[in-house]
Amino acid sequence: MQMQKTRFIAGLLALVMVLALTACGKAAAAENAPTAAPQSTEAAQAADGTAEENSATDGGNILVAYFTAAENSGVDAVSSASVVTVDDTAKGVSQAVADMIAERTGGELFSIQTSVVYPADMGELIDYVAEEQDAGVLPELTTHIEDLDAYDTVFVGFPIWWYDMPQVMYSFFEEYDFAGKTIIPFTVHNGSRLSGTPATIQELEPEATVIQDGFTVSHQNAAEAAEDVAAWLDGLGY
Ligand SMILES: Cc1cc2nc3c(=O)[nH]c(=O)nc-3n(C[C@H](O)[C@H](O)[C@H](O)COP(=O)(O)O)c2cc1C
Repeated sequence: MQMQKTRFIAGLLALVMVLALTACGKAAAAENAPTAAPQSTEAAQAADGTAEENSATDGGNILVAYFTAAENSGVDAVSSASVVTVDDTAKGVSQAVADMIAERTGGELFSIQTSVVYPADMGELIDYVAEEQDAGVLPELTTHIEDLDAYDTVFVGFPIWWYDMPQVMYSFFEEYDFAGKTIIPFTVHNGSRLSGTPATIQELEPEATVIQDGFTVSHQNAAEAAEDVAAWLDGLGY
């Protein structure tokens, strides 16, 4: 485990170095950005917890719930610790994949948000999360699924943080009983892939069917993941 941790920290440092190298561009972009980053309609609906059905396909009974640092850091996506740009729109990495799933399935987007304001600085975020995880904190949720009965299938996505789900996901699974529903996990990562999280979710939701073949993509490849997402969904019959 120590070895694994050392390898992950090395990977994370490499990522931080890449981010540092692109920091000049990021700073320039941030200077020119409006005070609030432009959001797509879907993202805006997800952010205020009032997601509406995507009219592209009939996904009326599908919810696509996700947690991402960028929507829980008190700053716009460009200024957050973790961001990716898709079609000229800056967003959290988990959100980018959630958008692809919603687009393809017609599911409704739901942004899982908390009263915790996570540090926008990557180094501070890493330390904060390590302490939050060690203490087993269950962060308070500030967005809530209004009518869970309306959904049979719930895609649930999040970044891997220290080899696990963010603590806010434990709050999420504590709040809802998904008995009789199908949960389909997806993660974004920097090397740890799904990191055993589908099995963890199954333990937390023993009466739900949790698909173990979840989707996962690295932070670096997330912006270009739409085709892989589509192939994975095809394989699952969506
Ligand atoms: C606090 C923290 C811990 C992380 N721990 C891991 C980890 O254990 N394994 C891994 O592969 N990536 C790890 N990462 C990288 C994130 O999973 C990755 O950057 C992800 O794309 C962030 O997604 P987001 O933009 O939706 O927040 C970590 C990132 C942060 C900020």
